[in-house]
Amino acid sequence: MEASLPVKKAVIPAAGVGARFLPVTKAVPKELLPLFDKPLIQYAVEEAAASGIEEVILVTSQGKEALEGYFEGNDALERFLEQNASPDVLQGVRRLASLARVSYVRQERPLGLGHAVLTAKELVGNEPFAVILPDDVILSGRPALAQLLDARRGPTDGVVAVEEVPSHLVGSYGVIAPEPLSGGLCRVRGLVEKPAPEQAPSNLAIVGRYVLPPETFDCLERTRPGAKGEIQLTDGLALLLETRDLYACRFEGRRHDAGVPLGLLKASLAVALEREELRGPLLEAMRQVLPN
Ligand code: G1P
Repeated sequence: MEASLPVKKAVIPAAGVGARFLPVTKAVPKELLPLFDKPLIQYAVEEAAASGIEEVILVTSQGKEALEGYFEGNDALERFLEQNASPDVLQGVRRLASLARVSYVRQERPLGLGHAVLTAKELVGNEPFAVILPDDVILSGRPALAQLLDARRGPTDGVVAVEEVPSHLVGSYGVIAPEPLSGGLCRVRGLVEKPAPEQAPSNLAIVGRYVLPPETFDCLERTRPGAKGEIQLTDGLALLLETRDLYACRFEGRRHDAGVPLGLLKASLAVALEREELRGPLLEAMRQVLPN
């Protein structure tokens, strides 16, 4: 087995209008909504950094300027905090600028996830890269992306994260046709975006983590609009499969769909419950709001 090239860059698509969170998202990018006490985007960037990623490429769109400032240093705020806040708070703010190099590219038109990833082609260059969808928050011991990187078998392979979903939900996902291997890994024999349940090749759904070779971009350039009339990443990967091996990894951890209000709330509760000092007060608060 050849040594795998290190994966140093991650593309994080964040160009969507956030329709499920309107009207909030008229003024605030969805990715800045708090999941308990940190914005959604921070979980994605922290996971990337904890998985060895050095450069994050955020794909944004018009109206999302606030997102672009979030990971930059802020001298005035830091000077204020030096005088008026605890060192922890100051440290938390400073840390944002040191997690990874963050660069931005605009997706000018909402043509789909595959098109958003293709927008990052020049910034990624000719090297393997990761994709993290910030709506899919994965709470795990070892970061989910790191688990995918561990699962790579060769330098040109792709790996996608998958989990089992109930059959009636397959139409919301990219779904793989798996050939089981050992240790939670499958070889991907085919993939289809948002299939009707009776046409789905399995109930293994792709969730938002990918490790991909640079040839993915050539495939995305050849990908025609598919489900919902959009250029789908899944369809690009189906083309990639003609020349490259693609694996699917059933990661360890709990995935939350923070792209819908109830899912974001649930993920917030899960994060807060994991903090020892908050568990008791949160359970008490929940008892108080539950009807008698
Ligand atoms: C996107 C991808 C889909 C994937 C899903 C995971 O769909 O197109 O293949 O299964 O993310 O969350 P979306 O949620 O944008 O409809």
